[in-house]
Amino acid sequence: MCGIIGFTGYSEAKNVLLEGLEALEYRGYDSAGIAFFHGDRVNTIKTTGKVSSLRDKVLLSAETMSTCGIGHTRWATHGGVTDTNSHPHTFGRVTLIHNGIIENYHELELELADAGKYPVSQTDTEIAAMLIDSLYEGDAIAAIKKAIARLDGAYAFCILFSEEPEVIYCIRNGSPLVACHAKEGSVIASDMVALIKYSREYFVLPELHIARLTKENITVTDLNETVITPKMLYVNWDVTAAQKGGYPHFMLKEIHEQPESLRSTIIPRIKNKQLPDFSADGIPEQIFDGINRVIIAACGTAMHAGLVGKVMMERLLRIPVTVEIASEFRYQDPIIDETTLVITISQSGETADTLAALRLANEHHATTLSVVNVKGSSIARESDYVLYTHAGPEIAVASTKAYTAQLSCLYLIAYHFALIKGTITETECISNIEELQSVIPAVEKTLDLAEDINKICANLKDKEDIFFIGRGLDYALSCEGSIKLKEISYIHSEAYAAGELKHGTLSLVTTGIPVIALATQSGIYNKMISNIKEVRAREAFVILITNGNAKVDSSICDYHITLPELADNMAPFTTAVVLQLLAYYTSVHRGLNVDQPRNLAKSVTVE
Ligand code: F6R
Repeated sequence: MCGIIGFTGYSEAKNVLLEGLEALEYRGYDSAGIAFFHGDRVNTIKTTGKVSSLRDKVLLSAETMSTCGIGHTRWATHGGVTDTNSHPHTFGRVTLIHNGIIENYHELELELADAGKYPVSQTDTEIAAMLIDSLYEGDAIAAIKKAIARLDGAYAFCILFSEEPEVIYCIRNGSPLVACHAKEGSVIASDMVALIKYSREYFVLPELHIARLTKENITVTDLNETVITPKMLYVNWDVTAAQKGGYPHFMLKEIHEQPESLRSTIIPRIKNKQLPDFSADGIPEQIFDGINRVIIAACGTAMHAGLVGKVMMERLLRIPVTVEIASEFRYQDPIIDETTLVITISQSGETADTLAALRLANEHHATTLSVVNVKGSSIARESDYVLYTHAGPEIAVASTKAYTAQLSCLYLIAYHFALIKGTITETECISNIEELQSVIPAVEKTLDLAEDINKICANLKDKEDIFFIGRGLDYALSCEGSIKLKEISYIHSEAYAAGELKHGTLSLVTTGIPVIALATQSGIYNKMISNIKEVRAREAFVILITNGNAKVDSSICDYHITLPELADNMAPFTTAVVLQLLAYYTSVHRGLNVDQPRNLAKSVTVE
């Protein structure tokens, strides 16, 4: 979703802003703009379309040196995709960029109209600029404080006041902002990917605190204007991690990074190579005491990881585990109390609905544990405990390595909790952990199937509908395979529990309709084969995925993908890789923008 970059320092700001926006492109956007000081005048250049078009426009504009400015990539919410609606927005002495949504913008707009002030755009953001300008009497911080007292909704703002050249003011509520000071000057952004070029050390601007950026330093104050020292964080990846590294797309690179991200996520949590240990994560064993129910809340792919987690946890813990779509959960008056463990899962750690679900769980005094990839993100900070996935930056919109890393965290939680609860023995736990570690080389081996899968995808590229079917864990994986395919190939697809087909969906299965059948679970293998025969009898085009040495009658499928042999419970990891590759190559065959699919954003910070 929208991206923010702000810079004040010793080098050409326009270059820093454009490079920052390029780094943030992956978040998904439809227009871009920058504003920079030239003397005490603020110049603004903006355009619909790509940052490359903005770069062209900047090059064409009269060459002016600038050392302070702000830049934005917009993902339209209020008002269409037009140059006018793009950020930055200027009103009077105020120029700003904004991530988030101002919910009471219309009420404020009417008030401003009474005072004879009218916006030129259709955005909620311009109303915020107008409001701040109307409250500004020479003291930027006072104006910001008065304005935020009037704003409802989520926001991250970077603000220039024409009377204070070379200074950027920032505030946030619910939308992320991270900042660093480096030799080049002070930099702020909506995500670390835009800062990494300058520093690996950074801080998250605390909510409802104001950052004042100058060349020399960044001052952070709370709303009482007390200066605070934010906690510094450190990323253990470098700028190359956020580059394609020779791969044609970030998605393919990230698919191939899975052995490494699994290794980094699993191995540090295993004590003496045998048992799970979360002490380095600051998660005491006591958090599981008295828990008699688990709720997993997340969105999209992260929610699909939860579906796998549920199966594993219920098997091992013998207590109810439910998986909730975060955007639904919060409006359903859910049953939560202090005996509930609420696990939220999120790559970005900023997904608005997941954050809201977490806040609800906190209000009801549940124990909250989050599985998050981005350090210091809102979900990580607001959870009682965090088990970080160490997947590194995920740039492609379609989540891949974060998903398998999430699975590995959920397996670790299941084993750890079950051992503490006594529902598995130490010997069983050691053997489970061994199985989990075996996933790493198996995923590596699965990647060798890439070229075969690429060839199979040539058969899918012109299809209009594709079905994914499976049972148990394979059904959870079918959901993930389907979302992955539809989001980047734009082919309609559905995931079905295989046994459910004949209760309605089978009527859609006709000659040549592709059905991707997952049959990795030996306990229900024969049942699954019967379901495959049902679609085969309707002349479906079947791609079958099995685990290891399953005996397959070749007449039931057109293509058969054999995964490296693993314990049934571990097959989700290798299956996920195949499904990711199927989606990836289908999108490539269709000539689409794999990394930045239309209408989608990487970090969904609106509800
Ligand atoms: C799909 C995908 C999305 C995200 C969802 C939640 O490939 O990436 O469905 O999984 O938007 O995002 P996070 O994990 O950041 O909360």
